[in-house]
Amino acid sequence: MAAVFAFDEPEMDADFRSRPRTKSISSIGSRDEAWVPPSYNGAEVVNTVNGYPNGVQINISSIIEDDEAIAEITDGLANLGSTLKNNQFRDEELMGTSYQIDIAEYVSEDSEKKRRLRPSDFEPIKVLGKGAYGLVLLVRERATGRLYAQKQLKKASMSVHKKTVEQTKTERAILESIRHPFIVKLFYALQDQRKLYLILEYAQGGELFSHLAMEKMLSEDTVSFYAAELVLALSHLHSVVGVVYRDLKPENCLLDSQGHLVLTDFGLSKVANDGGTCKTFLGTPEYMAPEILLGKPYDFAVDWWSLGALCYDLLTGAPPFTGNNYKRIVEKIQKTKLVLPYYLTAEAKDLLTRLLRKEPKKRLGSNIPDDLKAIRKHRFFRKMNWTKLEARDPSIIPPIVPVITDPILAENFADEFTSLAISPPGVEIPGVGSTSSNVDDVMLFENFTFTASNSFIENAMRTA
Ligand code: ADE
Repeated sequence: MAAVFAFDEPEMDADFRSRPRTKSISSIGSRDEAWVPPSYNGAEVVNTVNGYPNGVQINISSIIEDDEAIAEITDGLANLGSTLKNNQFRDEELMGTSYQIDIAEYVSEDSEKKRRLRPSDFEPIKVLGKGAYGLVLLVRERATGRLYAQKQLKKASMSVHKKTVEQTKTERAILESIRHPFIVKLFYALQDQRKLYLILEYAQGGELFSHLAMEKMLSEDTVSFYAAELVLALSHLHSVVGVVYRDLKPENCLLDSQGHLVLTDFGLSKVANDGGTCKTFLGTPEYMAPEILLGKPYDFAVDWWSLGALCYDLLTGAPPFTGNNYKRIVEKIQKTKLVLPYYLTAEAKDLLTRLLRKEPKKRLGSNIPDDLKAIRKHRFFRKMNWTKLEARDPSIIPPIVPVITDPILAENFADEFTSLAISPPGVEIPGVGSTSSNVDDVMLFENFTFTASNSFIENAMRTA
């Protein structure tokens, strides 16, 4: 789905944007003579915006009823590879909203010559983490000095597991289509004979939970901040991208340099099929919804369960259903009644009860879009200014601001990783599996390679 992003405050600087995928360069022309939809009563069209020079901005100041006007604007947007649904022009909720569409990809190819990057264009600096299929490294782009997180995935360990190949392609495809302030940005996807490389935004603050080790439990105000950023990220995935995240757990919640949450690791996310339900899975169970663990078809509601389990953990120091082994945890998630500690406020108890309903249809979040509004309006978030939060307004100071003396030191990452020696290309770090090259892999990972537009990268680096 081509994404169009809604901003609640028209005057703000865009720190994320849509990147339409359908190229129609001839119909758009050069950067100077970009297509600009005409102005209508209720939809003022601006073609340059502060901090957003390559975009078209549509400010919707009143409801548009005229079908012809709507058709012309939506056709124009379609030319840019983006969509704004007709009924959105009639939605009172969107009053005062602005839509910004990046046309940087549609300017003449000469003006943005892109050289295809190779893995060797990135110098490895440190190990940031280690997963089942490879490492996450801090790397520096040699040409620009920019720092990125590089997620490496070994083709050899993946091609034997068909599902993982699919998960990897899913991760690339999902990340490529997402631009959101609280979701990790994908800048490049590269490959060589042995490995796939996702070049991602470097979340300098490390894992959220590593900052919490000192304090077992967090205040409700602090939890409401992180939960609100997750609500925005999940709502975007569900209603704009059409993706179930499926794997919301502490390790996937990173912090950026300012302390805002960054959701990462899309290996398990799945694009919902037409009915909005999926039927496959595997991962750690503590934060997983009962219907996934039972192998039943599931939908977006599983992410709201996981949000409940994560908030419970932040508020109390442990997830709601624990046990010594996988089977015991799964049993408890499916059968045991939720117990809420006495010290939680009525607001927190109410939110957790609604999110942690075992029956997905009764769970808060299952009925979109109405439930998304209900979540935002919940008393647990009563102090939250959602508009400012989504705009990353500087007046909103995150509860934990990571200490970063020099980003290259990766001080916020575990010593067990950052102290590992970086092996020269071709030499493996023990414990991450062996590799072998296979010509078939080239076919398996066809179409994996991806480069974001220069303007997108520059803009993202400014706000990082
Ligand atoms: N960006 C994506 N994954 C990351 C990780 N594990 N650490 C830091 N930044 C990241």
